[in-house]
Order: sequence, then C-alpha cells, then structure tokens
Amino acid sequence: MSLQTPISVSGLNHSFGKGDLRKQILFDVSTEIQAGEIVIVTGPSGSGKTTMLTLVGALRSAQEGSVRILGEELHKARPRTLEKVRKQIGFIFQQHNLLGALSAIQNVELGIRASGKYGAKQLGERAREMLVAVGLEDRLHHKPEQLSGGQRQRVAIARALAAEPAMLLADEPTASLDKKSGREVVDRMKSLANERGTTILLVTHDNRILDIADRIIHLEDGRLSTFTDAVIANNRHMMEMLADNRQKQTMHEVVEDMDEAQFKELLLEITDESQSFLQATALANDLAFRSMLEQGLFAFTRKLRQLLNAERSSLFLVKHEHGHLELKVAENLDDLGSIRIPIGKGIAGAVAQTGQAIRIDDAYADSRFNPEVDRQTGYRTRSIISLPIMNQAGEVFAVAQLLNRKDGQPFDAGDEQKFTQFIESIGIIFETLEGLSADKGPAGE
Ligand SMILES: Nc1ncnc2c1ncn2[C@@H]1O[C@H](COP(=O)(O)OP(=O)(O)OP(=O)(O)O)[C@@H](O)[C@H]1O
Ligand SMILES: [Mg+2]
Repeated sequence: MSLQTPISVSGLNHSFGKGDLRKQILFDVSTEIQAGEIVIVTGPSGSGKTTMLTLVGALRSAQEGSVRILGEELHKARPRTLEKVRKQIGFIFQQHNLLGALSAIQNVELGIRASGKYGAKQLGERAREMLVAVGLEDRLHHKPEQLSGGQRQRVAIARALAAEPAMLLADEPTASLDKKSGREVVDRMKSLANERGTTILLVTHDNRILDIADRIIHLEDGRLSTFTDAVIANNRHMMEMLADNRQKQTMHEVVEDMDEAQFKELLLEITDESQSFLQATALANDLAFRSMLEQGLFAFTRKLRQLLNAERSSLFLVKHEHGHLELKVAENLDDLGSIRIPIGKGIAGAVAQTGQAIRIDDAYADSRFNPEVDRQTGYRTRSIISLPIMNQAGEVFAVAQLLNRKDGQPFDAGDEQKFTQFIESIGIIFETLEGLSADKGPAGE
C-alpha cells in the first residue's frame, strides 16, 4: 500500500444494528484502487454496494479493518478526519441529496463552494457551465421538486463534477437517464479520470456503461467475489435483455424484414452489448449467448448481402498461427471449414496479410485473384469487395467479402463505404464469438 493509492481497503467488516439485531453486511472486503482508475462495483440488491461506497466516502467511520482514503485512515476516525476526506470527494448517490429550497444552479454552486476550489466570482459561471454540460440549460433556476427524477440526477452529477474532485463515488449514476445522456455522463467521467487522474468508484447495474471500467469488482452477500462470478452475473443480465428484445422469432426472421435503418439500430444495440462484454469480461462460456451470437453472425452477414445487392457474402477467420484463412460464414453450409486460403494468397489472403481493403471490378483480370475457390465451389466470381476486420489488439482478425453485384455492375466506392460501416459491428460480434469458442477448447472450434 503506498501513499499514492487513493483507495486502499483491507479486511473491512461492517455491521448494522445492535445486540440481537446486529447484522453483518460486509465481510473481509479488500481492494486497492489507483489514481485515475475507474472501477465498477456490480452485485445484487442488498449485497452491500452502497454501504461499501459510504465507507470509502467517509460518510461513516469504519468499524473493523482498514480503510485508507486519500492518505487518511478512516478506521475509528474522528469526525474532523472524515470531513477532511469528504471534501475531496464528489458524490453522486441514489438519493440525490439536493437541497429543496435551492434552485438547480444554487445547489451546484453550493457543491463547488464546499470544495473551496473556486472564488465567489467564478462560482456562478462554473455552475452554469456544468449544468449546460448535462443538458439542463433551460432548468437552471428550477427547484428540485420542479424537476423530474432524471433531471435531479443530472443536477447531482453536475454538482459532483463541478469541483473536479480527486475522487468520485457514484451510486447508479445513469439509472434514471436515457441511453444518450447516460453515455455523455460516463464519457465525462472517463475524461476526468484520464485528464486529471480522478479515481472513480461506480456502482451500476447498467451493462451499457461497463466498457468505461478499468476493472469490475463484484459484491455478493457482502463479499467481494471472483471475476468469473462477475462475468457470469453480467452475462446472465445480458441474456435476459436480449431474450426480452428478440422474443421467440429467430434472428434470421427478425432481420429479414427490417429496413436499413432498423437493421442499423439492432446491430448497434447488439454491438454495444458485445463490446461491453468483450471489454469488461474475460469471456465466460455460455451456450445460449454463444448460439445467439452465432445466429446473429449468420443472419447479419446475409443481411449485408441483401442490403448491398450482392450475390454472396462471406466471412473468413484469419488463423495466423496456422498461416491460413478459414471460411466461417457463407451461403453454402457445406463450404464452411472446408475452404482454407493461405495468408498472402488470393484476394482475401492479400487483405489478411496487408490489412488493406481491396475492391476489384473483374476478378479474372486481376493477377492477385486465385480462382481455386471458384473451382471448389463451382461459382463464378466477377467483382469483389474484400475488407479486413481488426480485433481489439489491432491485428487483422477476419476478412469479410462481398461477391458480384446482382445488377451485373461492379461494386462502387459507395458500396465499399457502406460495407465498411456495417462490417465493423459484425467484427465485434465475431470477435466475441471467437473469444467464447477459444474458451471452450477443441469442442468449440
Ligand atoms: N443504515 C442501515 N441500517 C440497517 N441496515 C442497513 C442500513 N443500510 C443498509 N442496510 C442493510 O444492509 C444491506 C446492504 O445494503 P446496501 O444499501 O449496501 O445494498 P446495495 O448492494 O447497495 O443494494 P441496491 O442494489 O438495492 O442498492 C441491506 O440488507 C440493507 O437492508
Ligand atoms: Mg445501493
């Protein structure tokens, strides 16, 4: 434990109540959080998340174990020490604790004043700026009771961020915000962490924001549990969400009738989820999730063929360790797995090697084209768009291909642009799926 570690908790136990009614809520909780780190706490209702946050936030003194916050020990700390630590922390809590007699802007001003960081002259300007940033420019002079739950939440966020605290503790900060404002709020937090080294501890059930975390910790019955448990809990939540949205139709039927805009929205939604999942977890094995992604990958790849008016669409996985590409998604299921292209050979092979997209009008007139696959499949390729898909590590991880425009014309730059735009999302789904398969061992291959 160094002095530079803003949050250092070790062997923390906490109980509420006295005598027979005494109930232990936190058990032997230990964790360290570094400056500029964003840590998300997940866990079921009643597991002790808020209690942990209030202890770290010096809102109560620790009974047992050590809680060192910004260099001060809070175990049996005196009120003055607690207050000193509290002043350096921005709080965004479930109950927003706004003062009912004050307007939005006055509440924020009060928060800034308490930090002692800004002079009287700057207070008003600073408070206004923060309220504008959270989208409340037309509610500056409303009292809390005249605001909706989400608006009150945003005032609380503005108040917490305005003083640029060394540490930010937030309890469900996006719970009553829509997707867009929720994203804005967490992005703002992220830049605070990056630019000013603000340490952020955040309780959330919102899977859409897991990606901002450097680390996720999971509380279950007052105990910090393993990362795997957190993954499984997140995964379950995500499955429920997707199950809700998809009802009983298969993915293929669902996307078949969608227009381009609807499809784009669905793709973004699933990509968001996949991306959070990919970034925030070590990838658990969940058959249902896997099969959903597999279905999605097929359905989406075919949908692209339809949207771009192409005869065929396919996805190859680049197996660097084996030196070849393997066909993973195609029209003809018999072709899958049986078609392998050496890296560097043919159009897809060249894309895998260079990471550069290739679009050609007449395949047989291009020296890079390898007619071998056509020979194997009995298909006649004319024009091609072949795109690299990069993984999170920035390597070419897959290659996506469209063959032959249905109107007989070659693909144009507009087609390529559209394909590129969609394929990025599909790449994320593909990568998530491959991550899951890798964990499953040989059977998942
Ligand atoms: N002041 C208190 N006095 C007595 N019991 C309390 C007190 N505060 C919390 N508890 C109890 O401690 C347990 C943990 O509560 P806590 O608020 O930390 O849960 P949580 O994980 O934040 O749940 P949620 O997700 O519902 O907000 C609950 O069983 C709660 O009833
Ligand atoms: Mg809580």
